[in-house]
Amino acid sequence: MKKFTCVEDIGDLKEALREALEVKANRFAYKHLGENKTLLMIFFNSSLRTRLSTQKAAMNLGMNVMVLDVNQGAWKLETERGVVMDGDKAEHLLEAIPVMGSYCDIIGVRSFAGLKDRNEDYEERVIEQFIKYSGRPVFSMEAATRHPLQSFADLITIEEHKRIERPKVVLTWAPHPKALPQAVANSFAEWVLKSDYELVITHPKGYELDEKFTRGATIEYDQRKAFEGADFIYAKNWSAYEGENYGKVLSMDKDWTVDAEKMALTNNAYFMHCLPVRRNMIVTDDVIEAPTSIVIPEAANREISAEVVLKRMLEEIK
Ligand code: CP
Repeated sequence: MKKFTCVEDIGDLKEALREALEVKANRFAYKHLGENKTLLMIFFNSSLRTRLSTQKAAMNLGMNVMVLDVNQGAWKLETERGVVMDGDKAEHLLEAIPVMGSYCDIIGVRSFAGLKDRNEDYEERVIEQFIKYSGRPVFSMEAATRHPLQSFADLITIEEHKRIERPKVVLTWAPHPKALPQAVANSFAEWVLKSDYELVITHPKGYELDEKFTRGATIEYDQRKAFEGADFIYAKNWSAYEGENYGKVLSMDKDWTVDAEKMALTNNAYFMHCLPVRRNMIVTDDVIEAPTSIVIPEAANREISAEVVLKRMLEEIK
C-alpha cells in the first residue's frame, strides 16, 4: 500500500476486516516488519486518539516514531505555490516535504479543512502534496474531507458488535457550538456504503453532504423516524457543505441531541461517536454512559486500524 486516504485504498473491505481481527488477536506478531523503520507523524491540528493509537500501532510493529507538531516549534509553513513569502511563514511545504521524507520510511499527516474555501479543502491540497513530493508511503490521520483510520476502526467495531448480518446504521447530525469539517461524516458514509450494511443519514435541511460520499444512503430529515429500528447510532456534527453556507454553523438545535427518548425508538442500538464528544450537545450523559455505548472500544480499535495500514505499507517497502 503506497497511500491510504480513502476506502478504495484498503482494497477488499471484507479481507481488511478479517485481517484487522487477526491483528487484534495477536498485535505483536509482525514486530519484525518495522525493525529499523521510522514513522513520521505530522500534525497540523490537535489530536489525542490518532496520536496515541497510531504511535502504539507503530510500536507494536517494531517501528521508531517521530512526531512533528507543525504549529508548535516548527517553522510556519506556506502551502500555496506562487506566494511571495514576505509574511510570517518561513518555509514552504515544497522544501519541507522532501526534507521530512528523507528522515523516515512512512509519513502520516493530519491536516483539517480550513472551512473557508470549499474547492481548496475538497482538492486535499496538503496531503496530496505529501503524496506527490515526499517519496514515501503516506497515510491520512484525518485530512480535509476524510478520516479513513477512524472509519476503518468504526467498521471493525460494528463487525464486532453486530447482532444481525445486515444491521441498520444511522449517521445522525447533532449540534455543536463550533464549525467542524465534514470529514468524519463523509468518510463514515463512504466506508459503510462499501460494506453490506444499510445506511440512513439524518440531519436538518441545509446540512446535506457531498453526494459523492452519500450516494446509495437513505437521507431522512426526521431524526426520530430515522432512529426507528436502528442497530447502530453514529452521532457526529458537521458544518454546512452546500454553496455559500460552506463551513458555517446553521443550527445549534438541541432537539437533535441524541438522548434516551430517541434511543428508545431503536432496536436497542449501540451508540457510537469518534470522540472527542461534547456531552449534552451531541449526546446526553446517560446515553454515552449506558452499557450500549461503545465509544471506548471504538476508540481502542483505532490502534488496530492503524496497525493494519502500517503493516501493509511495511510489507511493501521491505
Ligand atoms: N477521533 C479522533 O480522530 O480523535 P483525535 O482527534 O483525538 O485524534
